[in-house]
Amino acid sequence: MKKIESFSEYQSEYQKSIENPELFWEEKANTFNWVSKWNKVLNWEFQSPKVEWFVGGKLNITENCLDRHLKSKSNKIAIIWEPNNPKDEIIKITYKELHQKVSTFSNVLKSHGVRKGDRICLYMPMVPELAIATLACARIGAVHSVVFAGFSAKALAERINDAECNVLLTSDGQYRGKKQLCLKNIADEALLSCDSIKSCIVLKRTGEKISMRLDRDFWWHEEIQKVNSFCPVEVMDSEDPLFILYTSGSTGKPKGVQHHCGGYMVYAEYSFRNVFQYEENDIYWCTADIGWITGHSYIVYGPLLAGATTIMFEGVPTYPNAGRFWDICDKHQVNIFYTAPTAIRALQAYGTEILKPYSLGSLKTLGSVGEPINEEAWQWYFKNIGKEKCAIVDTWWQTETGGILISPLSHITKTKPTYATLPLPGIQPCIVDADGCEIIGNDVQGNLCIKFPWPSMIRTIYRDHQRCKDVYFSTYKGKYFTGDGCRRDTDGLYRITGRVDDVINVSGHRIGTAEVENGINEHHLVIESAVVGFTHPIKGQGIYAYIILEKNSISEDLLIKEILETVNIEIGPIAKPDKIQFVSGLPKTRSGKIMRRILRKIADGNFSDLGDTSTLLDPTVVNSIIYNIK
Ligand code: WT7
Repeated sequence: MKKIESFSEYQSEYQKSIENPELFWEEKANTFNWVSKWNKVLNWEFQSPKVEWFVGGKLNITENCLDRHLKSKSNKIAIIWEPNNPKDEIIKITYKELHQKVSTFSNVLKSHGVRKGDRICLYMPMVPELAIATLACARIGAVHSVVFAGFSAKALAERINDAECNVLLTSDGQYRGKKQLCLKNIADEALLSCDSIKSCIVLKRTGEKISMRLDRDFWWHEEIQKVNSFCPVEVMDSEDPLFILYTSGSTGKPKGVQHHCGGYMVYAEYSFRNVFQYEENDIYWCTADIGWITGHSYIVYGPLLAGATTIMFEGVPTYPNAGRFWDICDKHQVNIFYTAPTAIRALQAYGTEILKPYSLGSLKTLGSVGEPINEEAWQWYFKNIGKEKCAIVDTWWQTETGGILISPLSHITKTKPTYATLPLPGIQPCIVDADGCEIIGNDVQGNLCIKFPWPSMIRTIYRDHQRCKDVYFSTYKGKYFTGDGCRRDTDGLYRITGRVDDVINVSGHRIGTAEVENGINEHHLVIESAVVGFTHPIKGQGIYAYIILEKNSISEDLLIKEILETVNIEIGPIAKPDKIQFVSGLPKTRSGKIMRRILRKIADGNFSDLGDTSTLLDPTVVNSIIYNIK
């Protein structure tokens, strides 16, 4: 696939993609290997919604990630794995080896009875086997559901049960900096309530002692000895599901966002090549975890489709010290580096002294993703990491969009700090006002929608199409609603200002306030709680919980500890509130709705500008909350 080379080419490509989207995307799709081509490029309507790309086309994404490259790149490194401990051995896997490892593991899955359409849950550390197993699922047409290994047993069980997975892939333990965590124990606890799981395949990573249930648990290294390494690809329909990935919304339980084979493939490679301006021998590193969409699209699929060398990092940015990222960049001569603002801010706090030993001279492109990047972090990244020579690409997208939708193209689009700038070709964003009317022109602000389909967009929520319709396609008729607020400046550049719904973004992790409230409410002394986000210097947003308790004689400190542990058990450490305030009442309207707008302002310390409180059932609760802040 050819990439865009200049800004004028971007403009003409963009124009083409709007005037004739089908022709535009057909050209891109033609660069892949298809078992048989589509009979129609696109079918769509945003009411039901129903979106189909490359209708009737047959393919397998792993043939395009692996087999396709064997002729010219079989000895090229596909994956460089950098272990948690820099003293341990680095693993490099060529395309040929990866092809063989994926095929072997595909046969392991088959030997456990896995068939096309079955759902497989992956709950694993950032080791090469995670990427291998993800691709193995795709190779045999099984739908992967990767669950981030920081989630609790309960959260894991909820996701396994929702998707009715029949195999779980996990490891004995995982290393994260100085910490060692026993994943198998967590998996065991989860599986107590997961009847659908027939086999659990366990990778040996830490070697810690775990228990294995003879009728259900199998060692990875033993299983791969039992099968051969030839596995033909399963022929998939372009609109067969490729994966499910759970994400949080403003209400209730997490949603299984579903992506389909053909469109996802085309957009993953297209966006990867163009945004990062990937060139043949570049070393590319995205620091995300494969448990999130960034890892799916821009550690595994996008780079491998492009035949790139992609780095997988097992550890954390501060181990063994806060120079680890830069050490890895120098060691592997990274050209394209992609991380989250929260990591930049956290490392920025260590000062520039720590950067001294590193050259960082190989870097060309620096990416940012996951949350709005503040001006200070942008400038620090540009100056101290990019040495004012690298392009910063602030990439806006979502689990649901499958790929980057708004972003500069590296060294092609003029950047502007805090701005994601311009839509990629094929993407038609629009800004709408509270009544759903599109706001035309520049220097405007409102809610961000997308008014035309793109190949990697969400197709449905697993077994809950109605929810897909309600959440994304009902707020503004005929448009996909992102949940984000946005401004368009006088030059037509986009700046994403953050969520406008009850979703908070903590260190780039998306967390539904309702989920945290449900977690807190599991504590037996909690009567009611309300959770909001507040501005946090490193995490972007922190979690603030207002809690009403039953009468009790337990100390506040102990209660806070217990409640944090309850959330830890219900969801995982990422959802633990940063601040807890016990209150006697919550600001509610006469119809009983909590006015979060007020709670958000209080959490941010904006007491003077609380807006209209006259519709509150009991306006005095507001003063009482403010008065009792510790
Ligand atoms: C939400 C999606 C997309 C991969 C990681 C997060 C926020 C994401 C940006 C950005 C401002 C951003 C939005 C979005 N977000 N990237 N460059 N600038 N905000 O995926 O967990 O699905 O979260 O992250 O609020 O809606 P996700």
